[in-house]
Parts: sequence; structure tokens; C-alpha cells
Amino acid sequence: MFDYKNLIYNAAKEVLPDLEQADVTAAEAFCDYCIPCFKFAKVLRKSPALIASEAASKVKIDGMKAEALNGYLNFTLDRGAFVENAFKTELGAFKPLAGKTVCLDYSSVNIAKPFHIGHLMTTVIGGSLYKIYRSLGANAVGINHLGDFGTQFGGLISAYKRWGSAKRLDERGLDELLELYVRYHNESEKDEELAKEAREWSNKIESGDKYAVGLFEKFKAITLEQAKKVYSRLNIEFDSYLGESFYVDKVRGVEDKLKAKNLLVTSEGAQVVLLGDDMPPAIIRRSDGASLYIARDLAAAYYRHENYNFDKCLYVVASHQALHFKQLFSVLGKLGEPWADDMVHVSYGMVSVEGMSLSTRKGNVLYLSDVLDAAVDKAAAIIAERNPDLENSAVVAESVGVGAVVFDALYDGRLKDKNFSLSDALNFDGETGPYVQYTHARCRSVLAKAGYNKGEVDCGELLDDEAYEVVKLIADFDEVVYSAAVKYEPSIVSRRLVKICQAFNRFYNADRIMCGGKTENARLALTLRVAETLKYGLGLVLLDAPERM
Ligand code: ARG
Repeated sequence: MFDYKNLIYNAAKEVLPDLEQADVTAAEAFCDYCIPCFKFAKVLRKSPALIASEAASKVKIDGMKAEALNGYLNFTLDRGAFVENAFKTELGAFKPLAGKTVCLDYSSVNIAKPFHIGHLMTTVIGGSLYKIYRSLGANAVGINHLGDFGTQFGGLISAYKRWGSAKRLDERGLDELLELYVRYHNESEKDEELAKEAREWSNKIESGDKYAVGLFEKFKAITLEQAKKVYSRLNIEFDSYLGESFYVDKVRGVEDKLKAKNLLVTSEGAQVVLLGDDMPPAIIRRSDGASLYIARDLAAAYYRHENYNFDKCLYVVASHQALHFKQLFSVLGKLGEPWADDMVHVSYGMVSVEGMSLSTRKGNVLYLSDVLDAAVDKAAAIIAERNPDLENSAVVAESVGVGAVVFDALYDGRLKDKNFSLSDALNFDGETGPYVQYTHARCRSVLAKAGYNKGEVDCGELLDDEAYEVVKLIADFDEVVYSAAVKYEPSIVSRRLVKICQAFNRFYNADRIMCGGKTENARLALTLRVAETLKYGLGLVLLDAPERM
């Protein structure tokens, strides 16, 4: 978009001492942009009101009016010029992150564990940030850091050998694995022999025993097959599935670096890095020689840095791993790696689900795919009632049902705990995914009925309050996307989408679109802009944009 803020900043800094770029903000009421003058009072030894009114008479910018109000210097744009500039900007052309590489670690599922509701947030926040970064020109690298290493797989093989069969595994997939694992867990407490057997299998996996590795690979394939089904429903992509096991033999290299800087100390037989008084030490290797989670993450960080030379490396992981990431970044800092400062733990709150029992027939977990299915069923029922003749209704119901869940997950700030409610998420009139999808479809149907073709727009026809409000909300959409990237906060995009829809629906009710002549033409042009912006924005928060609903 045309950079009004910068224009104001450059003109006003001549008059206001120590004006910073951030002092110029977009206003919600009274005007378009404003500068609060309170902070200048001390230096200028005048009241904010006087400073604002003096500045208002001195700052002159073409196409903008400057006024003082209650200590604020307010700027109001000339609507005609603004609308014209808005129609000149091309959606998605803003590429402030071109040439930057951002690694994103998200979803990172554990082998032989079901894909449950607890994975929703990491998956959709990460998947959405991936699209947001790409849209801004960055080279985003999506990484699924698989939990594919640990002694539990030895236990799983013992359980499979004792109670399972290839046939059952093929038929029941993950359900079977989960059941076997629970049974192993319960029985190994009483059965010494079983635990011993598990350790042996675990060692065999590590030493590359063909049979053990073959079984493990099978478990992995089953897990990924299920996860990939969910990813495809959620429009999630990855560039790498390198998991923890890949880094096991790279931990030695990290230990060498630590030793070279005298950072590795022995404590109760374990190899640890001391991190001062406010953090427990990072345990790199246990006394029995096993490497730890953090050690593999250190190796992975080096690997990512060497292979991708990232500008940022993000970890979208629940807040309960905050200490882990604090320790991880702190060890890298002690190792003197300047890029330790480019690593970010993108944390998020807890999710619970209203009206769905967390324990299902599959054990004590709620599968994400079951939540999606329930949402799709509900969406199908709503669509059947609202629009019984809709073609492709099953496809639309999938987009709307899944989209409702995802949009809801991405609508609040990520740190807030969420209690998810299917009926709220599917409220077509609420601040929801279906509401945005429906508004998009409404735009498309207006355009189709009118047989609208792109052409010259008479911007002077879009100056009334309702039309202008819509123009304002779509004009800086790219910048909104950029601020979502900077804050790692997809909700900034989803919230703006809802605002656009609300403004469009006010416009739609206030201004008759099919009114003939150049007014109709301009209103249709705006409708098309809205449709394009909504579709583009929905894609960034992982939703489809059906043409009809
Ligand atoms: N698999 C881990 C878990 O479920 C999350 C991994 C997050 N990524 C990482 N690099 N540690 O807790």
C-alpha cells in the first residue's frame, strides 16, 4: 500500500522533536492516522494540546488534512486519493521478506502415538505461519521434527511380539499400536522379563538390526499415513520430515563443541551444561550413555543452521516446553553462536473441547480426525438446511467444517487457553471461518449474477462511509499479514478477515450494488477486491474459499 505513515513521519519530524516512526499510528476513530503529542510536552515545555495545534498548522501534506484534537495530531486522508491508491496496489505484491530464510518446526508428531487434539495448535499455527512467510517472499522451510527415537519403541516391539500380529496391525493401524503400548505399559510394571525384553529390542533398533528396524519403520509408516491424511485436510505442508533419530549420531559433534569451550561438566555421572542460577542445567547425556531430547535439539539446530543458513528458526511448541527452549537457546548462546538470538519459541496455550469427551473408544485421547469429522457432519447439516440444492455439497461441507475448527484455533491470540466449542465455531453469523467463507461466496454470487468484468473504476463512486470503510480495511491487508509474521500471530490475519466481512456486509446492506451505471461498476469492482482479499487471506489461515455455499 501507499506508505502514508512514512509520509506523515517525514513531514512531522521537522516539527516534533524525537518523533519516532512508531509514534504515527493508524487511528480507529475521528481520523485515519494520528500522533499523540503527550511525550513532546517535557522537551518543548508546552501543553500537548498546544503542541498538536501548532503542529497542525505547520505540517502540510498533499491529499491529507491535519487537525489537532485533545493533544493528538490527527490526519485525515482525502478519500478520493486514498481509494485511487488502494485500487492501484496489487494484493500480495509486498515482499519485505524476500531473500530471508525462516525455518519453522511445527506439528512434530510422535511415532506410534495418535494424532490427537493436543496437536491442533502447533499444526495450524505453524502451517499458517509457513504460508504467511511464503506470501511475504521468505523462503520458509517447514520441518516436522518427528518424535522417532526412544526406548518406548522397544516396548512396542515386545508387546507386538507377545500379543500382536501383522494382520491385526494392518487392519487396525494406530489403534492397534496404541492398545499394544498401553498394554505394555501396564504389564511391564509387574513383569521384569517384559521390561528387559523391551530394552533388548530398543538396543536392536539402535544397532540397526534388520527385523527390529523393519518393524519400527512399519510403525512409522502407519503413523505418518494417518498424520498426512490430517495434513491434507488442513492444507498443511512440510519440506522435511527429519526426526530425532536422525540426530542421534550427531550429538557427538555437539559434545565436542561443548568440550572445546569447557562447557560440559560431569554431574552425578551425567554430562551437563550449567546454565546459572535461574535455570536447571541442560542434561546432554545420561549416566547410562543415552542422549537426551535437548541434545538432539542442539544437533538439529546446528544442522538447520548449516543446511538452511536461516535468518530465523521458529519452534511452534506448547508453552509447557518453555524451559526446554530457554535452555536450548541458552546453551547455544554459551557456545557463542550469534544465531542463537534468531531462535524463537512460538508458544501457545492449552486446548480443551466442549461437548466432546476426551476419552473415546480409542483410549484416553480425542483424535483430531474425530473432531474434524464431527465438525464436517455439523456443517453438512447446516448447509443442507440453508442451501438444499447446493452442488458439491459434500466438498463444501468438508471445507466449512474443517475450516471452522482451524479458524477458531487461529482466532484468538495464541497464548490464550482455548475451550473449543463446535457450535460456536460453526456459527455462520459469528466471528468464524464459515462467516468469512460465506461472505466470500456472497461476493462471488453478486459478481456472477452481474456478469462483472474487470475494467476502469471510477473511485469517486466509493467515497461514502460504508464503501470507504471497506476500502480502508483491504488497502493495507499486506501490511497486516506482515505484522502477523513479525509477531508470529496468525490471529492478526483472521481478525482482519472478520472485520472486512463485517464492513462488507454493512456496505452490502447500505449501498445497493446493482444500481446501474458507473456507481454499479465501482461497487462491483470493490466487491471483486473483497472476494480476492478474502480468498487470499483465507488461504493464509489454511481455509478453502468455496465459490458457493
Ligand atoms: N515431539 C515433541 C512433542 O510432542 C515436540 C517436538 C518439538 N520440536 C522440537 N524441535 N523439540 O512434545
